[in-house]
Amino acid sequence: MRQAFFVAGTDTGAGKTLVTCALLHATRQLGLTTIGMKPIAAGVEDDGRNGDVTQLLAASSIQPPLALVNPFLYIPPIAPHIAAQEAGRPIDIETIRQAFTQLREQANVIWVEGVGGFRVPLDERSDSTDLVAALDLPVILVVGMRLGCLNHALLTAEAMAVRGLRFAGWVANRIDPAMSRFEANVETLSAALEAPLLGITPYGANPVRAAGTLRLAVLPEFGNLPM
Ligand SMILES: Nc1ncnc2c1ncn2[C@@H]1O[C@H](COP(=O)(O)OP(=O)(O)OP(=O)(O)O)[C@@H](O)[C@H]1O
Ligand SMILES: [Mg+2]
Repeated sequence: MRQAFFVAGTDTGAGKTLVTCALLHATRQLGLTTIGMKPIAAGVEDDGRNGDVTQLLAASSIQPPLALVNPFLYIPPIAPHIAAQEAGRPIDIETIRQAFTQLREQANVIWVEGVGGFRVPLDERSDSTDLVAALDLPVILVVGMRLGCLNHALLTAEAMAVRGLRFAGWVANRIDPAMSRFEANVETLSAALEAPLLGITPYGANPVRAAGTLRLAVLPEFGNLPM
């Protein structure tokens, strides 16, 4: 089996890394080899690495070279196209595509975490939807469940439709434990979004617990596997 998905978020901080790590664990539990890729990251920890990349590698069953997992890393935690401009190292979609192609050879399933929200610019001309189109990936949308998320989720779904991208599934990630009418918001999104709900990630869940809430079988790619 060779599959890959792009994990987008309704916003920065929506929970893409947590859910991608959960998806990595859920995939491993099916006995499949798996890699988390973060093509573009901005911001580094004391160890000089990006925190998302560290988490994705920890949850991956295979440990490929950093240059493939994270081809574009910028030091300041700012909008990536501005970081790229300041660093004098433009984000190159073709470089990412080549790294992705190499990773794809190494594992059954690749989960590619996006950067920021779905239409975050990569340079003056392109944004992250161009990256998804170039990699030709179905999209899993992580909805950070907070007031305002309905608008963010619907706009993101619209952006996928406009670009002709496949919206494969979504995850309701409970980032705000105080959100009022949580269930009614999930129901509204379930009715409005064309893609199936993979699961609801509870507030405070770690990736392993979050993995237990995900139903990968709703994705046709996993439908034939024993769950
Ligand atoms: N279900 C949850 N419960 C509690 N905290 C959460 C949950 N999901 C995410 N968080 C917290 O919210 C913050 C943002 O989550 P995460 O890093 O997964 O978001 P992201 O979409 O990957 O952000 P970025 O745009 O920086 O990549 C983190 O501190 C994370 O621990
Ligand atoms: Mg992240």
